[in-house]
Amino acid sequence: MKVAVMGYGTVGSGVVEVIEAHKKSITKHTDGEMLEVSHILDLRDFENDPHKDLFTKDFNDILNDGEVKVVAEAMGGVNPAYDFTMKLLKAGKSVVTSNKELVAQKGLELLNTAKENGVNYLFEASVGGGIPIIRPMDQCLAANNILGIAGILNGTTNFILTKMIEEDTAFDEALKIAQDKGYAEKDPTADIEGFDACRKVCILASLAFGKHVYPNQVETEGITKITLEDVSYIASAGGVIKLLGQIKYISDDEIAAFVGPAVVFHPSQLASVNGVFNAILVRGDAVGDVCFYGQGAGKSATASAVVADMVDAAKHTERRKIFGWEDGNENYVVDYKDTIKMPFYVRAKCTESKAKALFDEVKFLTRKGQPSDEIAFITDVMTENELMKKLEGIELIAKIKVTDY
Ligand code: HSE
Repeated sequence: MKVAVMGYGTVGSGVVEVIEAHKKSITKHTDGEMLEVSHILDLRDFENDPHKDLFTKDFNDILNDGEVKVVAEAMGGVNPAYDFTMKLLKAGKSVVTSNKELVAQKGLELLNTAKENGVNYLFEASVGGGIPIIRPMDQCLAANNILGIAGILNGTTNFILTKMIEEDTAFDEALKIAQDKGYAEKDPTADIEGFDACRKVCILASLAFGKHVYPNQVETEGITKITLEDVSYIASAGGVIKLLGQIKYISDDEIAAFVGPAVVFHPSQLASVNGVFNAILVRGDAVGDVCFYGQGAGKSATASAVVADMVDAAKHTERRKIFGWEDGNENYVVDYKDTIKMPFYVRAKCTESKAKALFDEVKFLTRKGQPSDEIAFITDVMTENELMKKLEGIELIAKIKVTDY
């Protein structure tokens, strides 16, 4: 079967390589049918690339080739990926993607268009890179009501936090190392400000609860304010700071979804996820907690998930996989600050006796070099708005959510 690849960056070139290197194992899953890359769309020139004869700068070459049945979109961004994907689906071609921004923004429309045209739109690689999560959630956990999800969904920030926790490296230096290693982009905003994790939360929430969640509905905070002082206080209590995407079921009409730094205590499985690895913990009412772990980014890991989707789409050219969700509404994602109760880590200029008077329970933390006028503690369980009310008039230095995963 002829297939095409749009975008020849890290993921797109990985897709072509994985298809070529795994011909034999792919045919085992396609009843002997080979996937043959016939077009690669990219506006750049790749003079010395072994596939130079396959390149085109004209999207219509793929759209108008009736023999191309499956297309991998690895372009990233919403435009022109959205326009191209729409046209391909309407032309009766299945599209698979690693593009979380597009799925988070336009997934509902694209899934509906795929349905109307009897083809598939698959996006296993959009969350957790090479980690199988979309299919397991849709199929293997289908008998569960999902109660919540917590995920380390961004490899770059997890690498930075791990450097801070394990090697006492300050944020700026850890970010520079991540950039030198090629994990973080030159402009790392989407990673360190949590936008990338937010898009993945939208996809997971839409899939888990059947209604589309858009990025602007998910309150998002990055890791730029995390300091080594906070890392040290939290370590004294047996915890680590992770950038978590969290989703909580409230009712069939309401969920909470938010991204931000969170304290995770050992022995939670999420506490030991280090470096560029990702992990997604799904809490189901029948199965309990299940944790999916692996490489959340990188060329061959992500390409492995894209190619698996291409194989699936190639097997289902005559039959659609039932996959999708409905539209949500403005009030579907509630303000977690008013609804979700949890403990908080607080660092402030304050006395211990004042903190004890403000909270029912406080667990004080210590660090080397702690100034005499600074305290840090873990509170009892409350909403974030209740916490902020109690802290009115106090010189707050830092506050971080504490997770129950
Ligand atoms: N920049 C992303 C990360 C790539 O670091 O996880 C995968 O989405």
